Amino acid sequence: MNIVIVNGSPRKEGRTGKLSAIISKKYNIKTIDLSELTLPVYNGQEDQNELANIKMLRAELENADAMIVATPEYHGGMSGALKNALDFLGSKHFKDKPVALMAVSGGGKGGINALNNMRIVLRALYANVLSKQLVIDPTDFIQGGIALAEESSYLVNGLIQELKIYTQLTKKLNEEWSASNY
Ligand SMILES: Cc1cc2nc3c(=O)[nH]c(=O)nc-3n(C[C@H](O)[C@H](O)[C@H](O)COP(=O)(O)O)c2cc1C
Repeated sequence: MNIVIVNGSPRKEGRTGKLSAIISKKYNIKTIDLSELTLPVYNGQEDQNELANIKMLRAELENADAMIVATPEYHGGMSGALKNALDFLGSKHFKDKPVALMAVSGGGKGGINALNNMRIVLRALYANVLSKQLVIDPTDFIQGGIALAEESSYLVNGLIQELKIYTQLTKKLNEEWSASNY
């Protein structure tokens, strides 16, 4: 199954990128890293469709069976970088695909608003967003950010296992659906 994680942080040394790297390595999941992928501000002009980074973003997400979307919480919402990237995408990249949400907060009980914000936007893209979701705080990181504390790691694992179950289920239902139409 092809699961992709989107690092929604524009900051090269950001904690969301660190979380994405930990997950990518542990679960062998490909990362779309918005701190590396330079995208223009979406303006709806035809010429943007020809940009290599836009083509790559669209192709990777169209081919994905499921996604993990991780964002920093910035001013009570997802990052502008992530919202801008999502504006280049549409329902063909997300429709009926399971999506797990993660927010990386500054602590102090932040993160929930970014999760709710992503949930609203991804519903508009027809994604099947899982009920289970996670906020990762600065204190969840250990070893200078290259690993997660045991309890946080356990919670991340639970979310990813659930995403895998829903991805398998979706694949099976799609196969049965295609077979019944022949
Ligand atoms: C512009 C800006 C706004 C922020 N707003 C919030 C916020 O509303 N809630 C919160 O919990 N943290 C907030 N933070 C802290 C970040 O969420 C936190 O530092 C997080 O680790 C950032 O992720 P990043 O390192 O991947 O960029 C904000 C940080 C920045 C730079």
